Amino acid sequence: MSSSATKPRILTGDTPTGKLHLGHYVGSVENRVALQDSYECFFIIANKHAFTTRAEQAGEIRQSVLEIATDYLACGIDPNRSSMFIQSEVPAIDELTFFFAMLIPFNRVMRNPTLAQEIKDKDLGDKYPFGFPLYAVGQTADILAFRPEMVPVGEDQLPHLEMTREVARRFNQIYCGVDPQTEDDDYVRAGGLFPIIKPRLGRVKRLVGTGAPNPETGQLYKMSKSLNNAIFLSDDADTVQKKIMGMYTDPRRVRATDPGETDPEKNPLWAFHETFNPDTAWVQEHKVLYAAGKVGDVAVKRKLVEVLNTIIEPIRTRRKHYEQRPDDVIDALRIGTRRANVVAEQTLALAKKAMKQDYFSRSLRI
Ligand code: TRP
Repeated sequence: MSSSATKPRILTGDTPTGKLHLGHYVGSVENRVALQDSYECFFIIANKHAFTTRAEQAGEIRQSVLEIATDYLACGIDPNRSSMFIQSEVPAIDELTFFFAMLIPFNRVMRNPTLAQEIKDKDLGDKYPFGFPLYAVGQTADILAFRPEMVPVGEDQLPHLEMTREVARRFNQIYCGVDPQTEDDDYVRAGGLFPIIKPRLGRVKRLVGTGAPNPETGQLYKMSKSLNNAIFLSDDADTVQKKIMGMYTDPRRVRATDPGETDPEKNPLWAFHETFNPDTAWVQEHKVLYAAGKVGDVAVKRKLVEVLNTIIEPIRTRRKHYEQRPDDVIDALRIGTRRANVVAEQTLALAKKAMKQDYFSRSLRI
């Protein structure tokens, strides 16, 4: 086994608000499974973030943490090589959050476009708790506690990563004496504690859902549990079939004046084929036939059911295995959380030292 100490580190994760779906898979999880060999991987299950909008559903959050851990294992995340962990069991993250909150103006947090979008999408108005904007600062600590090189995420997370870069630069400048003119890649070499992290996007930046587009913009919605348009990694073959056969398709596809109108931006059927069907020749050929009205929705949907079930089947089988062994899931979380604490405690100690707040040493046990 190669030593993990020599591998560059990555950190990423999910907020536990349900089970993982195909959008998570192509947006990030697939990427993570592939990166396990060449990186030391930490995967955070951000349960505290789930409390920003669901503080009254603590039981659901707990359930969801376990579902996501099960999904990770089912997708092929190997607990011997990678560490998946529970955010609330890594106290150093919270301690860093408090310090980092001093390095970023409140108005800057509120201008974070992901927060603004969330306020709009979830209709939070001005009713959100204090902890809602705080979570964005918390996410900078989720990441920097691990001093990773790279953070694989979906597109919607980029504003959080930009804030993380800003916090890291500022910390390094104020407490480690790094010159503000330093290039991002050189911060650590120049004596900084925190690397200026790089985002890494998945193969598919935004997977659409199975429903009709937004009537105002004509845009298809993103796949999301709350929009009820998701195909879950835990769905059985029949459910996948039902969801696909009942999926929205663009009614204008056969309009003779619009040859080739199979814009995957407008028709989830083709968005899915382009994302998941490995037989690209089939996809190209059938798109043309479809636009000409020579092949129908049903045939193209049937093919898609086959394609998706081929991808999901091995995940489903491994998921069943872990569903029957909940103790194994907890063990994997415990081991991962232990490893996460080793790194995060180390980072916190170094950060406190840089901030001249290192009075005693301490140790933490799980
Ligand atoms: N906010 C992310 C999401 O909802 C989850 C998350 C929390 C995260 N902390 C993170 C992702 C750190 C990457 C890095 O999907």
